[in-house]
Amino acid sequence: MEKVTLSVIKADVGGHVGHSAMHPKLPARARKELEESKKGGKILDYCVTHCGDDLELIMTHRGGVDDEEIHKIAWDVFMACTGEAKALKLYGAGQDMLKDSFSGNVKGMGPGVAELAFTERKSEPVLVFMADKTAPGAWNLPLYKIFADPFNTIGLIIDPAMHDGFTFEVLDAKEGKTIEFNTPEEMYDLLAYIGSTGRYLIKTVKTKKGEPCAASSTQKLSQIAGKYVGKDDPVCFVRCQSGMPAVGEVLEPFSFPHLVTGWMRGSHNGPLMPVSVKQATPSRFDGPPRVTCLGFQLNEGMLGDPRDMFDDPSFDQARSMANKQAYYMRMHGPFEPHRLPPEDLEYTALPQIQERVKHRFKPV
Ligand code: F6R
Ligand code: MG
Ligand code: MG
Repeated sequence: MEKVTLSVIKADVGGHVGHSAMHPKLPARARKELEESKKGGKILDYCVTHCGDDLELIMTHRGGVDDEEIHKIAWDVFMACTGEAKALKLYGAGQDMLKDSFSGNVKGMGPGVAELAFTERKSEPVLVFMADKTAPGAWNLPLYKIFADPFNTIGLIIDPAMHDGFTFEVLDAKEGKTIEFNTPEEMYDLLAYIGSTGRYLIKTVKTKKGEPCAASSTQKLSQIAGKYVGKDDPVCFVRCQSGMPAVGEVLEPFSFPHLVTGWMRGSHNGPLMPVSVKQATPSRFDGPPRVTCLGFQLNEGMLGDPRDMFDDPSFDQARSMANKQAYYMRMHGPFEPHRLPPEDLEYTALPQIQERVKHRFKPV
């Protein structure tokens, strides 16, 4: 059977109000554009949503990963929506469109991409996670728990189809190299790297037999632009059930609002709060960082109706914990570890201050 490709491509093309949420005209325009592409037969199906100020295009097609035509479709949608954002004078209109014209692949041009091509199973449940006010390292902890931690995923112990473990592909974002680790046998080596969430990013996860299970966006905007232009606000998706983690095992790590980098000015640590799409409106101190999740049952490449997976009272406690942690972290004001260390700050007046006062330092 011909493989289906799931491409989740996102960009911040303007916020309403400030960086807090999405103006309804943007997704409406994106849907209009993608409907044309669907009629033209280039994409099988699409779902447009948002997380905070990020516009999310979830698309299925037969083109495989890195398909130029699909990436061009996404780029053109973001360009059209940038036009809408400019007309509405939305904040940061075109923020993530870092290049003037499309050149073959949206990677390295601003938008974030997570893609996999796979053979659709008898039933194919997929969960798509989208985050705002954080960086791609935010997925390391939940992906590790989903695929390697038996205290999270009981299937690793009691489902014979999962007992062999999984293979993690990790990107060294500084050197631009990848490495694979097999779990459970190399879990300590894996953790030695992925605990450093600023540099080492879980890019994909597959079964030991090579069946792809999960993919995340690992683009870092500041590396592309050479300066801070907005947080990466990453996406990630996971195939579920029948030898892969169950839907509930994939959602479970988000019951713990772990600390991630991002939040105000991309320069703070704060809890990642799991929310419904409606609640994906980071407001307090431009946050706290949010994660949403839409679930799909693929059907011959069609996405069908999405389910808003965090729109559930079983995540109320996680939201409440995240709010408590947000208060605790905020009490630190401009002090670390709430504020990031100088080398990780996305905005900084520090060099100017150092230049101005350096003559006042006396040797001891
Ligand atoms: C974080 C983010 C916001 C902005 C902040 C200042 O990812 O987007 O917290 O950094 O609102 O924005 P500017 O510098 O555009 O005034
Ligand atoms: Mg923004
Ligand atoms: Mg954003």
